Amino acid sequence: MFTSTLLDWFALHGRDLPWRHTRDPYAIWLSEIILQQTRIQQGMDYWLRFMQRWPQVENLASATEDEVLREWQGLGYYSRARNLHTAAQQIVKNGAFPCTIVTIKQLKGVGDYTAAAIGSIAFGLPAAVVDGNVYRVLARHYGIDTPINTTRGKKLFAELAQSLLPADQPAEFNQAMMDFGAIQCTPTSPNCTACPLQETCEARRTGRINQLPVKEKRLNIQTVRLTYIYIRCNGKTPIRKRPAGGIWQGLWEPAQQDSLIPSATLLCKDVKHVLTHRILLADFYFMETDTPPVLPDEYIWVDEADLDQYAVPRLIELLWEAIPR
Ligand code: ADE
Repeated sequence: MFTSTLLDWFALHGRDLPWRHTRDPYAIWLSEIILQQTRIQQGMDYWLRFMQRWPQVENLASATEDEVLREWQGLGYYSRARNLHTAAQQIVKNGAFPCTIVTIKQLKGVGDYTAAAIGSIAFGLPAAVVDGNVYRVLARHYGIDTPINTTRGKKLFAELAQSLLPADQPAEFNQAMMDFGAIQCTPTSPNCTACPLQETCEARRTGRINQLPVKEKRLNIQTVRLTYIYIRCNGKTPIRKRPAGGIWQGLWEPAQQDSLIPSATLLCKDVKHVLTHRILLADFYFMETDTPPVLPDEYIWVDEADLDQYAVPRLIELLWEAIPR
């Protein structure tokens, strides 16, 4: 009942998205990597640009990492772009796009969700996707209050989604769940009065739409303070490539100011940047000088006019926008 109603709804209201007009696993994989942490509207432009610039996996594999990072600029979570590039090379080396859930999951940057999405959409494999939309739709419809961010909850919802998936229409079912969660059963103001599942929705029957799904509270998100200084010296500015290991690996950043420089001007204070496990609060300073300051070896001096050639985190783009011309 749930499944057939959902599929009927999808036939009428499913979104027309460009990657839904192809069965090319490369195009579908690319869309899923982009959509991992990005909204459809923003992701669409990037998908179109990537497909235009690198129409086949071989093209992407032979690009440089810097080129891929630059094309990714603005999307955030840059490990996705690095993994995308590595995975393209994996695929080319193997000679074909992997076509089982196990082998799709061996691609860098592909976890359970993405493997199920690619497997079902590109190859018709009967694997259910589970993400925030799926948790919400199922928690509400079946009135399940097991916290979704616990091992027990993840297992329960994954098994339920899998049990509802029709083996002959896995792509339609998975995309129906995504769209239903995004359009109909939205987080804060679901459209229950026009919902085809209202009669059987347990959360609606018991007045718990706003309580479900349940998430266990975790209170360990740290705030980290950063101070960046943009140094202008004879038309050049120093930047460095962030090392392996931490956040923003491979992206560029300006000098960090650890001790106060009296001649620096404060441009912006407490610029907030939210990451998954941390909140960054950054102060941006600006300084103009004729004598190049001594900096650690990893800094290079680049022409200010060439700054857009270097992929930077979104936070640093904000600094670039704040510097005086
Ligand atoms: N979110 C992640 N993958 C998606 C897809 N294929 N369609 C719509 N939304 C998505």
